[in-house]
Amino acid sequence: MNIFAVLGNPVKHSKSPIIHQLFAKQTGILHNYKKICIPLNNFYKSFFHFFKNGGIGANITVPFKKKAYKLCDFVTKRAKYSGVVNTIKIINSKKILGDNTDGIGLLKDLQNLKFINSKSNILLIGAGGAAQGIIYPLINFGCNITIINRTYQNTKKIVKFFKNIKNINYLKLEDLFIFYNKFRYNLIINATSSSIKGNIPNIPSNIIGPDVFCYDLFYNSNNTPFLKWCIINGAKKVSDGIGMLIEQAAHSFYLWHGIMPNTKLIIKKYKKYD
Ligand SMILES: NC(=O)c1ccc[n+]([C@@H]2O[C@H](COP(=O)([O-])OP(=O)(O)OC[C@H]3O[C@@H](n4cnc5c(N)ncnc54)[C@H](OP(=O)(O)O)[C@@H]3O)[C@@H](O)[C@H]2O)c1
Repeated sequence: MNIFAVLGNPVKHSKSPIIHQLFAKQTGILHNYKKICIPLNNFYKSFFHFFKNGGIGANITVPFKKKAYKLCDFVTKRAKYSGVVNTIKIINSKKILGDNTDGIGLLKDLQNLKFINSKSNILLIGAGGAAQGIIYPLINFGCNITIINRTYQNTKKIVKFFKNIKNINYLKLEDLFIFYNKFRYNLIINATSSSIKGNIPNIPSNIIGPDVFCYDLFYNSNNTPFLKWCIINGAKKVSDGIGMLIEQAAHSFYLWHGIMPNTKLIIKKYKKYD
């Protein structure tokens, strides 16, 4: 039987199986999708084990997106531009195709929410696989991005990857604390995995305000710890990443089956727009 899965660690919180089940129901396509927690030090072995045992497609999540890119035989244009993959498809029986649907998924959700325009000045917190995957589509849309991250070394790595692209800046975290009143951001995106463990990335509260949109890639049934903190500090418009999850999942489903599910109804089920 053809099997699909989300591969990551942790994956307990993942809503991907439910969403893919809803897509399968909506489109009438048989789509067996499960979640697989992969040991942190055993990604390569587990990845190939999955595909040798009936796996024909997978989503790759925290913290394996960069590692998965290196295992692909071919990548789509948008994966190439981001250097990370979140979607794998087996083609020609055994070749591995990698794609990245995170960027398009996020952009679509930010547009649905009216959180973004082509001139948005964005503060992106995080320099992991998800952050790397969303940079190119946002820049391509016209936005300006400043990256900050807990580990400055990782900020520099990500900036090096995008060295030929304009409109990307980066800051040391401590400089944001010192010079916060020099910067004005329209949209703050938390692309760290801090919320998974109930933590909040360390940023100055002064950059939050009623006209600053705050978005957390993480999602849970209540507001994430980061979004709660943003609201306490004056944010009026906040959103978690459930809309992004549904949009990126729809693009993965399209890559696997050639049919684009209708995301609107499913997003509506999970959250209500203002
Ligand atoms: N909604 C969606 O569709 C969607 C899609 C993709 C990802 N996500 C979410 O995005 C998040 C990031 O995923 P990823 O794949 O990028 O993970 P990753 O590759 O493991 O990267 C983790 C990032 O988070 C930072 N970080 C971790 N704990 C932190 C803390 N306590 N304080 C500050 N920074 C912290 C790391 O900083 P260092 O460099 O300092 O370690 C790194 O920048 C996850 O929560 C994931 O669930 C959601």
